Amino acid sequence: MNIIKTDDYNRMSCMAANYIAAQVTLKPNCVLGLATGSSPVGTYQELIRRYQAGDLDFSKVTSINLDEYKGLSPENDQSYRYFMNTNLFDHINIDKKCTYVPDGLEDNAEKACADYDAVIERCGGIDLQLLGLGNNGHIGFNEPDTIFPKQTHCVDLTTSTIEANARFFDSMDKVPKQAYTMGIQSIMMAKRILVIVSGEGKAQIVKDAFTGPVTPQVPASILQMHPDVTLIADKEALSLLSF
Ligand code: GLP
Repeated sequence: MNIIKTDDYNRMSCMAANYIAAQVTLKPNCVLGLATGSSPVGTYQELIRRYQAGDLDFSKVTSINLDEYKGLSPENDQSYRYFMNTNLFDHINIDKKCTYVPDGLEDNAEKACADYDAVIERCGGIDLQLLGLGNNGHIGFNEPDTIFPKQTHCVDLTTSTIEANARFFDSMDKVPKQAYTMGIQSIMMAKRILVIVSGEGKAQIVKDAFTGPVTPQVPASILQMHPDVTLIADKEALSLLSF
């Protein structure tokens, strides 16, 4: 694994944007696996800045997001579709028809998940998957479990995740209790993976995920088995790693 240490969140975001920009430049019709949460916001701002400066063209890019809350519509300002539109897609020249997020309004979980796996397959897999890291080691919404779930599935969110994500909602009760998430196999099939992490609060989980045993109790630990992972993190997030 390639680990890049940065001084702070802003530098992390610039480095991550460099990485994604290189992918888009080298393969203009690439498939980007994208993430939500506060970690990638700065990276998306930086990509927008480069697009506006004329340095990047997203017109041929396809994007496939990791996850979506079950029950939230695209217009709901807490949905991940809304997040992606407002934080990235509305500001670049990507074709919205080529941006995929699981359908939060599909109540039939089996159908929602099978449809999403079909999308991933139809797109020919993911060239570069961007990931944040949940406080409990989740990636996408793959929560700690006794197995690594392979494909897109419906998850019951853990209390820890509901609490962590409550900051974006008016109250804890408003946080959906379920989500659709891409599975671990789909993430692991990506040709390259870029993980971004920042802040002292993530230091222990970074240590567990990247230097501890590979276990479904820490879903991100599976990334140790991927041949092309880059971790870009600020010095606080890396403070418990000795290198
Ligand atoms: C959410 C998302 C994840 C994200 C995680 C960490 O639960 N489903 O994809 O990585 O939160 O979020 P943050 O970057 O805000 O710490």
